[in-house]
Amino acid sequence: MFEICPETAADEPEVEALYDLCFAPGRTALSSYRLREGVPRVADLCLVLRDPSDILLAAIRFWPVRVARRPVLLLGPIAVHPTAQGEGLGGLLMRDSLARARRLGWGRVLLVGDAPYYGRFGFSRLDHVVMPPPTNPDRVLGLELRPGAWVGVEGPVMRETSPGVLEGMAEMSRGANVLSACITVDHPREDIDGDQSAAGASTDQ
Ligand SMILES: CC(C)(COP(=O)(O)OP(=O)(O)OC[C@H]1O[C@@H](n2cnc3c(N)ncnc32)[C@H](O)[C@@H]1OP(=O)(O)O)[C@@H](O)C(=O)NCCC(=O)NCCS
Repeated sequence: MFEICPETAADEPEVEALYDLCFAPGRTALSSYRLREGVPRVADLCLVLRDPSDILLAAIRFWPVRVARRPVLLLGPIAVHPTAQGEGLGGLLMRDSLARARRLGWGRVLLVGDAPYYGRFGFSRLDHVVMPPPTNPDRVLGLELRPGAWVGVEGPVMRETSPGVLEGMAEMSRGANVLSACITVDHPREDIDGDQSAAGASTDQ
């Protein structure tokens, strides 16, 4: 059994250490980090996954951004500890966080990553959405949580600066206490061999 919970301040050092382990040095120099600087995370959607010994095995974070003035969720970083990759834990965090996002009322999600991996969660290339350079346009992927939410939403991805939206996020969080709850989940692959190694997706963020 694993537990998935919203990330707390106490989790933060472990989450940062996991990201440092899973990503190349200098990860915060990526252009996508410029969209996050000084912007609060979407706290209800930043999740950690721990094993029965309380070991942190995976984490996912989300930030608010804007495209064509519309609110968009920027998914990432997501990381699974190298010893646990390829066991379905990334999929668990993707599905749970996206379900929470839908219930919170978010309409559209954006990420920069491998289409062959993220396609399984419904993501596809966003032809007319432009991340800050240098970003390979083939890796700019989107998902509609509400049908049609990406239709006509085009242009550069902008940092969220509107205090109104950030206040709105806080209000949504207060009104959705149920989402703050932890959930327990079974291992996604009961037949997993402990020695099986990762097939890690090559992704940005
Ligand atoms: C990417 C990552 C989060 C995926 O999590 P995970 O728990 O290892 O992945 P899952 O077990 O849910 O999924 C594994 C499946 O994805 C497939 N997969 C992995 N990488 C893939 C890729 N680049 N392209 C296509 N499929 C890929 C595997 O082949 C496997 O397929 P299967 O289900 O048919 O066997 C994890 O590997 C990781 O942390 N990687 C390093 C950090 C990183 O790149 N993070 C993403 C940045 S936003």
